Amino acid sequence: MFDALKPQPQDRILQLIQMFRDDPRPGKIDLGVGVYKDATGLTPVMRAVRTAGKRLWESETSKTYTGLAGDPAFHAALSGVILGGSVAQDRIAAVATPGGTGAIRQALELIRLASPAARVWLSDPTWPNHPSIIRHLGIPMAWYRYFDAQTRGVDAEGMLADLGQVAAGDVVLLHGCCHNPTGANPTLAQWAAVADLLVARGAVPLIDLAYQGFGDGLEADAAPTRVLAARCPEVLIAASCSKTFGIYRERTGLLIGIGTSAQRGLIQENLAFLNRQNYSFPPDHGARLVTLILEDPALTAIWAQELEEIRLNMLGLRQSLAEELRRLTGSDRWGFIAGHRGMFSVLGATGAEVARLRDERGIYMVSDSRINIAGLNAATVPVLARAIADIVA
Ligand code: LMR
Repeated sequence: MFDALKPQPQDRILQLIQMFRDDPRPGKIDLGVGVYKDATGLTPVMRAVRTAGKRLWESETSKTYTGLAGDPAFHAALSGVILGGSVAQDRIAAVATPGGTGAIRQALELIRLASPAARVWLSDPTWPNHPSIIRHLGIPMAWYRYFDAQTRGVDAEGMLADLGQVAAGDVVLLHGCCHNPTGANPTLAQWAAVADLLVARGAVPLIDLAYQGFGDGLEADAAPTRVLAARCPEVLIAASCSKTFGIYRERTGLLIGIGTSAQRGLIQENLAFLNRQNYSFPPDHGARLVTLILEDPALTAIWAQELEEIRLNMLGLRQSLAEELRRLTGSDRWGFIAGHRGMFSVLGATGAEVARLRDERGIYMVSDSRINIAGLNAATVPVLARAIADIVA
């Protein structure tokens, strides 16, 4: 049986983890996988998470199963942070999932169940695991323009023109904030235009929300999702707690399905059914930590404050990298780095330049020249800037 297996393509993000580990050079810099790191290179356990973990350890009396959909208190707490009351409660169905990727996977399975011929439209470029999962599930796929390589901002005209071709019942995958990989994001007015277009076309947004709080703040980062959720009759939201709560390995995610109040029961039943088929009960530990934090106003404040520190740290790194590059090159060419939001920016270096940055300078980034801003610190910003100025044409 196993002889029939074919080799699988390597994930270009995960591939970097091993390459970086295997590099013996002491000054190497990891700007690869999207994990937040502080100035010492540590991915910290957030203060509120630590407190919640202690409380949970002391108070938890059972490890019996939760419901198939996970704990309703988790759905309520996290969907409150995301939707902020923009949608009537009786329209919202939700299931806990193993991480944001689990939520994406379950959303795609739900789409296939409801509407096997629906195409899923992806931004060009997008997180490489999006097309990978869609191909794996055999779901028809299409691309919409998103990034303007010249301005390194959103190609809003191209995006709206392509989304104008979407058929009724198609699904459009959108990054709710902090676009991965580009770091370029539509303005709120452009988001409203996207929402109106999707309503006019009868298309369904599937919002990947993995970086709420990493861009312009918790509320501002949720605003596009709220606009879409308030205007579109049917919406899917795949939310991740990995970055926002720093609980990557806990695999904590939430899939929200919004329909009419009459559709809600059927959406909920199908989401629970899909959980049962794929892994039965979803993981609970991370979800419980998040619920403990969000149900306690004091812990919520501690969490939100640390998230804001993380956001401002990344923003400061963006600004100092852009400034250093302006100083070294005497040009504004790299100013976009300060304007981008979230963990990532795509530099626009060629594959050969990315390889040279790695081989000659020990600087690791994804092959499309995506850098993780959080992989930098005050000492490595000038090193990266020097390398970019020397190597990127
Ligand atoms: C990334 O884009 O680096 C993160 O979302 C981590 C991952 O799983 O790829």
